[in-house]
Amino acid sequence: MLKHPNNPLLQTPTRPLPRHVAIIGAGSIGPDIGYYLKSALPALQLTLIDIDQGAIDAALKRFADYAKKALAKGKMSEAQAAAVQQGVQGSTDYDALKDCDWVIEAATENLALKRRIFAQVEARVGLDAVITSNTSSLPASRIFAELKNPERATVTHFFAPAWRNPAVEVIDWPHAAPELVAWLRWVFCTTGKVPLLTSDAPCFMLDRIFDNWCNEAALLLDCATAAQIDTVAAEFVHAGPFFVLNLARGNPIITETNTLQADEEGEHYRPAPIFPSVDQWLTVAPGQRVDVSAETTRAVRDRLLGVLLSQSVDILDRGIGTPADLELGCCTALGFKRGPLTLLRDMPEAHAQRILKRLALERPGMPMPKRALADYLNFERHVLVDDVQGVKVITLRRPEALNALHDEMTDEILAVIRRFEDDPAVSGFVITGYGTRAFCAGADIGRFPDLLGDKAAAAQYARDCSRLLVHLDAMHKPVVAALNGMALGGGFELAMRCHALVAMEQAWMQLPEVSLGILPGIGAMVVPYRRWPQAAATFHAMLRRCDKLKAKQALALGVVDALASSPAELIATAVARVQALASGHARIQHGPVTLPAFDSMAPQSAHGLALSPTTLGLIERAVQEAAQAPSLSAALEIGYLAFGEAACTAAAREGIAAFGEKRAPDFVRVG
Ligand code: COA
Repeated sequence: MLKHPNNPLLQTPTRPLPRHVAIIGAGSIGPDIGYYLKSALPALQLTLIDIDQGAIDAALKRFADYAKKALAKGKMSEAQAAAVQQGVQGSTDYDALKDCDWVIEAATENLALKRRIFAQVEARVGLDAVITSNTSSLPASRIFAELKNPERATVTHFFAPAWRNPAVEVIDWPHAAPELVAWLRWVFCTTGKVPLLTSDAPCFMLDRIFDNWCNEAALLLDCATAAQIDTVAAEFVHAGPFFVLNLARGNPIITETNTLQADEEGEHYRPAPIFPSVDQWLTVAPGQRVDVSAETTRAVRDRLLGVLLSQSVDILDRGIGTPADLELGCCTALGFKRGPLTLLRDMPEAHAQRILKRLALERPGMPMPKRALADYLNFERHVLVDDVQGVKVITLRRPEALNALHDEMTDEILAVIRRFEDDPAVSGFVITGYGTRAFCAGADIGRFPDLLGDKAAAAQYARDCSRLLVHLDAMHKPVVAALNGMALGGGFELAMRCHALVAMEQAWMQLPEVSLGILPGIGAMVVPYRRWPQAAATFHAMLRRCDKLKAKQALALGVVDALASSPAELIATAVARVQALASGHARIQHGPVTLPAFDSMAPQSAHGLALSPTTLGLIERAVQEAAQAPSLSAALEIGYLAFGEAACTAAAREGIAAFGEKRAPDFVRVG
């Protein structure tokens, strides 16, 4: 068994999903954690414990309010909204913990208090109950120092708002049983969170960034106002440090956490003396700005960026977290527009050196890089790589966009394949998606607006995105797609170029492009007809009407080779397929193919989606021309060119704009 695979779902958990969770502390983040758990696991029994009945009543009301909002927004059905509130009870009595299999403590950041709570918890729960603390700063080794059975305890650090924010740090401290850490990561990943494995340093990984970012902002108040600092910070974050501090009532927290860092690691972390004397900062909301002189902008920008880089290299040098998790966590949990390592990558090295030099002068003691800066940038950002019995499992991880593909991600997949394909210890590859919802939701639509209106550039984009797919066509070692959830558009186009497909029973495939005013230009108009001619009519319906292909139907049609009922079984099945294909796999037919005729009726809508007649015409033409093309590469080229053509239509402009604006496109108007 892998100790801690990068993809948390590669391990078979040693215990089932929780049945009864108790959360201690109904005041602030506790109920939000509970609401996330109940939304993901509606049958869960949830107990909220607090010394104050008023806090419990307010928490239960919060559940009702959230559910009402979700219902009104169409995010939940009536049944789901009811289920999320059922089986939730409050109590001021710790005896209510007795039957729990997981207790999450979310009380005030106070070591003595937390220890008292855990003594009471341990006296009541069974030996196999998991115990976690939601501290943002206090190391597990200190919080759990007095536990009789510390191996079942660790820190799980959530981020606000915990019902929606996907990030959660899971602390791997020396006493925690590896099975506990593996189970927590599995539970989180299964329930839609993104667990970030972090070591037991004070403030763990992300609060080292956040607290020092805020503390630095406060230390800069001698040269700029809070509003000016938030204005400068807007280059890097969606909301400035002072705005966030107001929102989170965070001044006492920064004082507490930076005092801890100062006491443990040095005076340079000491909190700014101003924090205790301020209640609310006078600042601007995100999107607003005040005037800041060039000189002040530079001073503030240098220091903020300096502290960000300093903390990032320190986290990596001390192995507190991985570079990919640091990047993802900063963006998803802390609201950075780009991760600190992406900022470092995208700035000239001399610029980074100057900023670090200035920080060293103005803030002596702050950590400095221990390696060449380029060394910190050498990692995969969008994929995780694991080894399972000599098979490299590549996991697409862009949880913010349902693992949607862009050129950087396809380049990373290709680089991993190239790195290992001649390695005799590696028998092949599996490609899967992070989490349980999506294998991949297609090409990243966010990148499309730049391509619209430029035929040649759009066709070239399709060709560039196909580099990986063309490489797969020529490979000797097998690559198996493990569809853990939906595979849409470009995601399905990637899967269909793998040498075999296996899927979760509830997975499904779809080609929704005609509902976006574009077309699937990197293989879907070509490959299925040459690879699975028996399913040609099904692919016609997928391309023209966005019909879904469910995993069971795909199995019956021979598109998918095997189904699995759990993520671990999915990977085991995929690995077995790789091993079975070691002696060779079938190639996609190169020559022309005969197609069944399209229905004479052009659909205008299907499955509640409006369809573009212009795009439909382009798809039908490309499919027919590609079928007659003398070679696979000539047929693929027809697809790239058709994508270029589609990108110049009014339908594409409308479809892509509508997706960005979260509205239905008006193809009646634009065609
Ligand atoms: N490219 C970029 N971002 C994508 C994406 C894609 N292909 N698919 C989903 N996302 C993003 C969404 O924009 C959303 O981001 P936000 O939270 O910042 O708004 C996030 O992933 C979650 O998706 P959301 O749409 O909120 O989830 P949902 O459950 O309501 O709907 C889908 C799920 C798959 C039906 C919907 O996301 C969708 O239609 N995606 C596009 C699929 C597609 O057409 N793919 C082919 C592209 S060529």
